[in-house]
Amino acid sequence: MIDPATGALPFAPGVPAATPDEALLSRRSVRAFKPDAVPLALVEEILALASRTPSGTNIQPWKVRVLAGAVRDRISAAMLEAYAVEGAESFKRPYNYYPVKWREPYLARRRKLGWDLYGLLGISRDNKAGMDAQYTRNYKFFDAPVALIFTLDADMETGSWLDYGMFLQSIMLAARAKGLDTCAQAAIANAHRVLRRELAIPDSEQIVCGMSLGYARDDIVNHLVTAREPVRSFTRFLGFE
Ligand SMILES: Cc1cc2nc3c(=O)[nH]c(=O)nc-3n(C[C@H](O)[C@H](O)[C@H](O)COP(=O)(O)O)c2cc1C
Repeated sequence: MIDPATGALPFAPGVPAATPDEALLSRRSVRAFKPDAVPLALVEEILALASRTPSGTNIQPWKVRVLAGAVRDRISAAMLEAYAVEGAESFKRPYNYYPVKWREPYLARRRKLGWDLYGLLGISRDNKAGMDAQYTRNYKFFDAPVALIFTLDADMETGSWLDYGMFLQSIMLAARAKGLDTCAQAAIANAHRVLRRELAIPDSEQIVCGMSLGYARDDIVNHLVTAREPVRSFTRFLGFE
């Protein structure tokens, strides 16, 4: 499945995935997109496929706003302006995505991602401005022509977050089958105040995350292939012959 010599995956972004295996293996977080527009009908088709995602008692808790063109540009500009004015410290998600207290093995994995990403881009560990510039590309949706904003009714419980994760992955895999790429973005939830104001999102909805959607550009940042732990490190097989 994965080339043991190079660690390379056999499939790449850009090329449509023909099978579920290809979709899974070619999906990666794409952080540079071509400007090519994605037709509304194609986005709608991807969302229709993703709507087949299972959810506990079929409650389908997801709510999506799809931004393109001038609306996408306006939201992007508003988030960048708020980030510049408010600063990174007040740009916080309204929920905890990550553990409050980081510990191993998660800390090492998180650090590796950061060093690998910044290393690929030639951003050294002491170059805070370079890291910040890369981070703020989140608010440009990495130049993707389409941005999705995901919300959940605020009174929903933990199970709905489980359903939501599956829904997000369904979108990402359906996109791969159409030759499109994505990047899920928790960073977008950091701009929750701006998004509420600009998109008239009521307090009754929790902002979950965003996602960039478009055609991958051949940029060094998209060459990042992240590591995974071997199956036997996180699985115990019980009762097999
Ligand atoms: C829900 C979710 C939120 C994420 N948020 C961000 C984000 O804000 N910015 C970003 O560049 N990557 C984001 N990522 C991408 C992860 O860093 C990426 O999935 C992980 O490093 C594994 O790499 P891969 O997606 O290329 O396999 C997010 C991924 C998920 C699933």
